[in-house]
Amino acid sequence: MTSAVSATPKMARLVLDGKEIEFPVVVGSEGEVGIDISALRASTGAITLDEAYVNTGSTRSGITFLDGEEGVLRYRGYPIETLAQHCGFLEVAYLLIYGELPTAEQADSFREDIRNHTMLHEDMKSFYNGFPRDAHPMGILSSVVGALSTFYQDAMDVHDPDQVEVSTHRLIAKLPTIAAYSYKKSIGHPFVYPKNSLPYCDNFLHMMFSTPAGEYHADPDFVEALNLLLIVHADHEQNCSTSTVRMVGSSNANLYASVSAGIGALWGPLHGGANEACVDMLERIVEDGGNVKKYVDMAKDKKNHFRLMGFGHRVYKNRDPRATIIKACCDKLLQKHHVKDPLFEVAQELEETALRDPYFVERKLYPNVDFYSGVIYRAMGIPVQMFTVLFAIGRLPGWIAHWKEMHADGSRINRPRQIYVGPTRRDFIPTDQR
Ligand code: CMC
Repeated sequence: MTSAVSATPKMARLVLDGKEIEFPVVVGSEGEVGIDISALRASTGAITLDEAYVNTGSTRSGITFLDGEEGVLRYRGYPIETLAQHCGFLEVAYLLIYGELPTAEQADSFREDIRNHTMLHEDMKSFYNGFPRDAHPMGILSSVVGALSTFYQDAMDVHDPDQVEVSTHRLIAKLPTIAAYSYKKSIGHPFVYPKNSLPYCDNFLHMMFSTPAGEYHADPDFVEALNLLLIVHADHEQNCSTSTVRMVGSSNANLYASVSAGIGALWGPLHGGANEACVDMLERIVEDGGNVKKYVDMAKDKKNHFRLMGFGHRVYKNRDPRATIIKACCDKLLQKHHVKDPLFEVAQELEETALRDPYFVERKLYPNVDFYSGVIYRAMGIPVQMFTVLFAIGRLPGWIAHWKEMHADGSRINRPRQIYVGPTRRDFIPTDQR
């Protein structure tokens, strides 16, 4: 396919079997160029083939801008660095979901709406008895979020804005409670109810770490770090889990079912599960004597499945701006709390070694959001299996914003096609003749 070359091309031409067809070119507000091939099959009978969607724009979106070549990330036009420095997580959630930063009154009212829904239905607690004690909290999170749809059957109509609104509040309010309960279950402690006098991040740490036997006050530095981590995870345009939420939602499945599916997608170690896998990898390197070069060599060896977890990204071919923010936070927190974590030292050495290595330089592989976040979570006392759960709590507003945008845009059911490469028609052979 050739495109009509000009500063802002208007049409792209495709020649197929001698027939020339023109397609409109769509230009985004930041100058990104896409070829609108929606008429391709109707006019040619052909489809596009783009395995793993490396070149496919699945939608127009006005939520998050990401320039992977320049390392730029903005939510609704605001740079991630500015939001991370100045905002609370719920303010950013509001921005993503409603499109504008809230006024003081809007922020108060939003926080109040969230506070109203922090508790879980008492019957939901019995679910936790059914899970094995060593169940992965992501499995619990996905199941319990899916089960919210069975408790809130009054909010299933995807076209009713009031029902979507209450589901939005319930999800943002209950996800930390569901998450903290899964941790309490794993250590055999009683569940701690949410305390609505506390802000969002403090409340989560309270449910995680307080016990009926003693007082707990979250360290303000940990609260600040958690707030920052949730903000930098809050959206990342059409990533695997967000595309899953949109895909499931496009069938008009309710918001709980769609988010539950997104949690499943996030769990994988190539996506959000990389934060847990990265700390496992750093622990392995430390236990193995800290031989960083050995692991860098293993990651380069094509016969070995090992990869540097927390390294590389489909879109970033430059430093991941989230990793820069997180590393600075990590540095500050560890220094202030006089934490000497061998994992942090190994992580820094690994980064330096990889970034000097032609393999990583040529492929433009840099540390991503998951490389240093686990070191911060460790310093806060959060167990490693909860790391991806925290990613999910952060990503939730992004999922909801995309789900709502998709419905507002009147999207059709998402249904990719395929190029069939299996056997052509053949005759059935009865069992006794095979
Ligand atoms: N270690 C070693 N080699 C790598 C790595 C890595 N972490 N990442 C990519 N490569 C190599 C890969 O082998 C390939 O080499 P070649 O061209 O010789 O075949 C080349 O770099 C391109 O990689 P790819 O697998 O084609 O890239 P992708 O866009 O399909 O995958 C990725 C992106 C993030 C899945 C991949 O970089 C990876 O597996 N990273 C480790 C897991 C990870 O940290 N995931 C978290 C991503 S950030 C959080 C999020 O938003 O999900």
